[in-house]
Amino acid sequence: MPVISAPHDFNEGHLFVDLTSVVDHPLYLKCEGFNFAGSIKLKAANEMVESAERDGILKPDSVIVESSSGNLGVALSMIAASKGYRFLCVTDSRCNLSTRLLMEALGSRVHIVADLDENGGFLGTRLEYVRSLCASDDRYVWLSQYTNPGNWQAHYRTTAPQIARHFPRLDVLFVGTGTAGTLMGCARYFRQWHRPVRIVAVDSVGSVAFGGEPGRRMIPGLGMSMRPPLLDESYVNEVIRVEEADTIRACHRMARRGFLFGGSTGTVVSGATEWLARHGNPDITAVAIAPDLGERYLDTIYQTNWLEDLYGDQILDGDELTTTTLEPDDPAPREPDRWP
Ligand SMILES: Cc1ncc(COP(=O)(O)O)c(C=O)c1O
Repeated sequence: MPVISAPHDFNEGHLFVDLTSVVDHPLYLKCEGFNFAGSIKLKAANEMVESAERDGILKPDSVIVESSSGNLGVALSMIAASKGYRFLCVTDSRCNLSTRLLMEALGSRVHIVADLDENGGFLGTRLEYVRSLCASDDRYVWLSQYTNPGNWQAHYRTTAPQIARHFPRLDVLFVGTGTAGTLMGCARYFRQWHRPVRIVAVDSVGSVAFGGEPGRRMIPGLGMSMRPPLLDESYVNEVIRVEEADTIRACHRMARRGFLFGGSTGTVVSGATEWLARHGNPDITAVAIAPDLGERYLDTIYQTNWLEDLYGDQILDGDELTTTTLEPDDPAPREPDRWP
C-alpha cells in the first residue's frame, strides 16, 4: 500500500494497455498519466527541480519560471506548491483551459502569449518572454526544459527501464516528440541494451522538430516550432509525421473502447498503427508511450464545435467519433501575470 506525504512521490510506472483490438496489431501502450500531475512531465519536472536544488540554484525566495504547453506547467505547479516555491508558467493560447485552471488552482501564475513566432508557433514568443523576465529580476529561475539534461535523464532512469523490465524482447518503441526529453532518454537507454531496438519518433505535421515545413498545429504537447536542442538524430531510426485529423481519429477510436487519452497519445498511436500495418509482421513486439489522459482535452479533441471549427464537418464523418456538443465557456484570459 503506497502511503505518500508529497504528491510527486507517487507515479504509476508499470501500467500498459494492450491495444491489439484497437489497432489490429499487437501494440502495448505505456500509460504515464496516473500520477497527481496527470502526465509524463512529472518525471522531468522532478528531476530538474531536484538538480537545481542540489546545485544551489533554487533558494527560498526563488520564482521558478518555465515555458510549457501545459503538462510541465502542471507538474511544476504541483511540485512548487509542495515544496513552497512560487511558479510562473509562460504558455500560449493553445494551452487547454482545464490545464490553465489546474495550474492556478495549485497556486501558480499563468502568462499566455498570443503572438506567433516566425515558424508559425508560439515557442519563440514564449521564450522571449521568459528571457525578459529573467533579465528583469534575478529571483527568477528558468529550468529550461528544452536544454536541461535532467529532462532526458529522467526517462533514462525511469521510463526506459520500466519498459525494458516488462518487454525483454522489445523490437520497436514509438515515442512522441516535444522537447525530445522522453525520446532521448529512452533512445540512449536502449542503445546500450542487450538487443537492438528500433526507435521511431512520432511528430505532428506542421512541427519543424525534424525539419520540414512549419504549419498550423492546434493540439498541444507534441511537435515544436524549433529544432529541439536535446535532440540527437543519430539515436533515431525513423520519424513518422501524423496529421492532426489522424490524431483525432485515433483518440476517438480508443475512446470508443473506453480509453480516453490525450492528443499526443492519439498521434503516437496513429503513427504506430500506420508503421505496424506497413511492416505487417505480427511477431514484432511494439510499445508506444502515452504521455497523458484525455480529460484535459474534453473541450478540444472531444468537443464537436472545436473539431468542426478547426477541421471542418468531415472530421465528424465516420462512426469512430465520440464527441460532446457543449457551448465553450472560456473565461477571458487575464492580464499578464508577473512575479514578484
Ligand atoms: C501531452 C504530451 N505529449 C508529448 C510530450 C512530449 O514529451 P517530450 O517533451 O519529452 O518530448 C509531452 C511531454 O510532457 C506531453 O505532456
